[in-house]
Amino acid sequence: MLSTVIAFSALAVAANALAIPLNPVADRIELASCEYPNGTANALNMYSCSASGDTIEVKWVKITDLDGKDMYPIDPRKPFILELVAYNNGPDYEDNKVDVRLFEYQKSWSTGKCGWAEIPTFGALNGIDGCDFAKNCPLTHGDLDLKIELDLSAYSSIISMLTANSAIQLQISMKDYNPGSKHEEITCVEAQLRIN
Ligand SMILES: *[C@@H]1O[C@H](CO)[C@@H](O)[C@H](O)[C@H]1NC(C)=O
Repeated sequence: MLSTVIAFSALAVAANALAIPLNPVADRIELASCEYPNGTANALNMYSCSASGDTIEVKWVKITDLDGKDMYPIDPRKPFILELVAYNNGPDYEDNKVDVRLFEYQKSWSTGKCGWAEIPTFGALNGIDGCDFAKNCPLTHGDLDLKIELDLSAYSSIISMLTANSAIQLQISMKDYNPGSKHEEITCVEAQLRIN
């Protein structure tokens, strides 16, 4: 019986190791050696990374738990909601998809300077259905309240690459998935925040 349990857990560990290859982040880092940038010790900082043709302007970003309660700092092991209060200067969008890139504020071994290093997410945060959580599609012209659920809890290999009590940056890019579109970007926003 005991050997069965051991064999089974060895198998589980092996399967887990195979699921997502662990890429060591190039130019690895000293732990917790950077100040929180842009006031992220106390509050989320956001700014636009939209290109000139993007039609949706994000005015502010808030992060809540699944019940809509404010949360700061963020626990990356639990699902959370990114709420984007925005204005659509363009047409109605029946469908959209969101790609999120993840960065952590780290000190570079080679330069000694703090900066944003990308954390590989193996596609886990790509192609998120931007209509799914809020069920508010089509996105019409005018004021919008976008809500996107991010859930890293199933991705232990991503979580394990994050440093506790550090600043992370989420680069959120929304794409047009209207029929006949070329999946052009319609908005881009950077959200910088503290995790615990
Ligand atoms: C701080 O925020 C500004 C925009 O408000 C941005 O241009 C700058 O790159 C940010 N600094 C860091 C370290 O991310």
